[in-house]
Amino acid sequence: MTQPLARFLDLPVVADPRGNLSFIEANRHIPFGIERVYYLYDVPSGSERGGHAHLALNQLLIAVAGSFDVRLHDGTREETVTLNRPNRGLHIGPMLWREIENFSSGSVCLVLASTVYDEADYIRDFDQFLARARA
Ligand code: TYD
Repeated sequence: MTQPLARFLDLPVVADPRGNLSFIEANRHIPFGIERVYYLYDVPSGSERGGHAHLALNQLLIAVAGSFDVRLHDGTREETVTLNRPNRGLHIGPMLWREIENFSSGSVCLVLASTVYDEADYIRDFDQFLARARA
């Protein structure tokens, strides 16, 4: 069986009639330290985010509200997964091209990242990505 390009991680849930609570501890619930948190929100209908790969960055994406699709490419295979639960993350490692699309209205994509922002870690050209991934 082929391995998925990115792994779903189920996060702890403290279920409570007052409202559920989930939490994430770096290096425990996810396999990396966290140096940055960012989030995508107010995404207009039909809009796409991503469109790049990273050389070294690890990220966990969570649909903390609503849903969206993540289209991944490793240079050979393409795979699309849906995130639609606040207690489920998608771990995306280095050298994976990602597009995030089909954002539902009011959705929020929370991203935990292993390093601070560094433009030098991005590959923003798909042909360059393919050449590098296949090398
Ligand atoms: P980008 O990573 O291309 O966004 P996405 O992949 O979600 O479509 O970043 C968009 C812009 O935001 C870019 O100019 C860099 C800036 N940015 C930061 O300054 N810090 C960050 O942590 C991130 C993720 C982006």
